[in-house]
Amino acid sequence: MRDQLEAVRGEALRAVADAADLQSLETARVHYLGRKGVLTNILRNVSEAPEEERPVLGKTANEIKKAVVSAIEERKQALEAKVLEDQAEQDRADLTLPGRRPSFGHKHPISQVIEEITDIFAGLGFRVATGPDIETEYYNFDSLNTPADHPARDLHDTFFVKPGVVLRTHTSPVQMRVMEQTAPPVAVIVPGRTFRVDADASHSPMFHQVEGLWVDKGVTFAELKGALMLFSHAFFGKDTEVRFRPHYFPFTEPSAEMDISCTVCKGQGCRVCKHLGWLEILGCGMVHPEVFKYANYDSETYTGFAFGMGVDRMAMLKHSIDSIHHLYENDVRFLEQF
Ligand code: DAH
Repeated sequence: MRDQLEAVRGEALRAVADAADLQSLETARVHYLGRKGVLTNILRNVSEAPEEERPVLGKTANEIKKAVVSAIEERKQALEAKVLEDQAEQDRADLTLPGRRPSFGHKHPISQVIEEITDIFAGLGFRVATGPDIETEYYNFDSLNTPADHPARDLHDTFFVKPGVVLRTHTSPVQMRVMEQTAPPVAVIVPGRTFRVDADASHSPMFHQVEGLWVDKGVTFAELKGALMLFSHAFFGKDTEVRFRPHYFPFTEPSAEMDISCTVCKGQGCRVCKHLGWLEILGCGMVHPEVFKYANYDSETYTGFAFGMGVDRMAMLKHSIDSIHHLYENDVRFLEQF
């Protein structure tokens, strides 16, 4: 039995030393020390050995067991350390990999154009004013000399929120809101969202306008022309021609539409200007005395001009964009170009 014990010692210690991973170490442990393990069996059988051999056998068997247990513990620690090391090796950052560039956001082309327009007018002394997108019929129509039975109301395909309340169809109502709050003189530039029931390649139900208003003593149509020509040259370039065509708006008298020479063909005629050589970019006129009445301004003392332009159109012309919807689909591949 002694020989058998010594053989088991060597065998067990070798098995532990040879265990290549935690799994095979556990298999070895169960094989020698488990409930039906080799050593366990031997220890159990010590009582059957001749009486005089029992103490030595028992002692030796216990020593071997202790030696195997501590060998297993040592081996286990070594294997666990190796697992951690392997893990660390695997997780190590590869510093030679090329970096990933973070993508930067930037201003939407509409915001860029609004900023450019307001900057030009700020240079002429206009301050920026804003008003609500959801507007009363009073500000959107009545106070702008467009009563309920006025045919011009039909020109605006209006979104109604509830009776008397609309999504503003233009930025002009802010003229009235500003005049109510401010004694003349006033010079404001009003960027904002506007809404009409309309959708095709050049119309979106939500679009943008910039409104302008200047009221003071002695403001004439010449000032209107001067300001808008200066603006056109600053925005579209020095060689841009402008022309004014008589038009009708309820809130201005006289009224006009302003065209600029086509930015694409420079007046020769092309698809963008429908072979006219001119592009209509804004409506304007001298503030109607009726509008001054609503604002409590004395139309005997004060005169003023106003204008309103479509921002989306300006952005499209500036960047040769062929459909207004590109501006609202938020396709980053499109927006990144500006
Ligand atoms: N509000 C007009 C529109 O949406 C544009 C306009 C025309 C604004 C003449 C004005 C103006 O201030 O004087 O079509």
